[in-house]
Amino acid sequence: MRLASTAAELPERPRDGARAIVMTMGALHEGHLTLVRRARELGAQVIVTIFVNPLQFNDPADLERYPRTLEADCALLEAEGVDAVFAPSVEEMYPGGDPVVTVSAGAIGEVFEGAHRPGHFDGVLTVVLKLMHLTSPDVALFGAKDAQQVIAVRAMVRDLAVPVRVEAVPTVRDPDGLALSSRNVHLSRADREAALALPRALAAAAAAARNGDPAADVVRTGTNVLTEATRASAKFAVDYFAALDPRTAQQVPDDHRGEAVIAVAATVGGTRLIDNMTVLIDPEGSP
Ligand code: PAF
Repeated sequence: MRLASTAAELPERPRDGARAIVMTMGALHEGHLTLVRRARELGAQVIVTIFVNPLQFNDPADLERYPRTLEADCALLEAEGVDAVFAPSVEEMYPGGDPVVTVSAGAIGEVFEGAHRPGHFDGVLTVVLKLMHLTSPDVALFGAKDAQQVIAVRAMVRDLAVPVRVEAVPTVRDPDGLALSSRNVHLSRADREAALALPRALAAAAAAARNGDPAADVVRTGTNVLTEATRASAKFAVDYFAALDPRTAQQVPDDHRGEAVIAVAATVGGTRLIDNMTVLIDPEGSP
């Protein structure tokens, strides 16, 4: 496995095959490795980028605290059969300091996770586009758990005609249903119990959608589960539970028909968790 800190040090593109890229900020866990395994399944040359992108942090203390574990990450990636790791420095990525020209996520960046972290999605898209230019992949894989990030990247690729296929890899869950996240280690046993309301609310909403309920009822069904959880634990606070348009990340109207991403964010004992599920809302099409 090659470790490159500049694009020039990357291996040559395969002559006949494809190149796949998995972008990360390091501190790798099972969720990242699932993306890598999927990339390998595609039979592509696999490049993993590791870059803690200053542009997507609102709080300088968060950026400072972000774990940097390059050696351990490389060991994991080597064991997965990755072809190359691209780990540029901040100076390599942004030689003149913060870039003057950046990508805007527009309205996608202003709602839900974007409202919680202003400017975050602009920073994500700017680095994603730059990493795509530097590595010229055929396909880029992202975790479906960060639904709004996937929506923003897909919109950028579509709107700016970036010649890269974007693949969202399904969320990996623990047997109890909780989505894998590096933040789960901060949950006490009681917090974890309370956190299970997130997948329960999503499952309830998905069942309502399968039942042919209209969008407003699908959301209400999930919200009821979360209201119960809030009553049961003072440490559980819901940020949002909503049905999002998969192209725009805006809340769908009550009479929406078609796919929707049911997205949830909640804080459990000080740990903020997100999760989502894609459903088909089709009241008249159901039996
Ligand atoms: O999902 C992440 O880890 C980051 O947002 C990404 C896509 C690597 C861009 O810095």
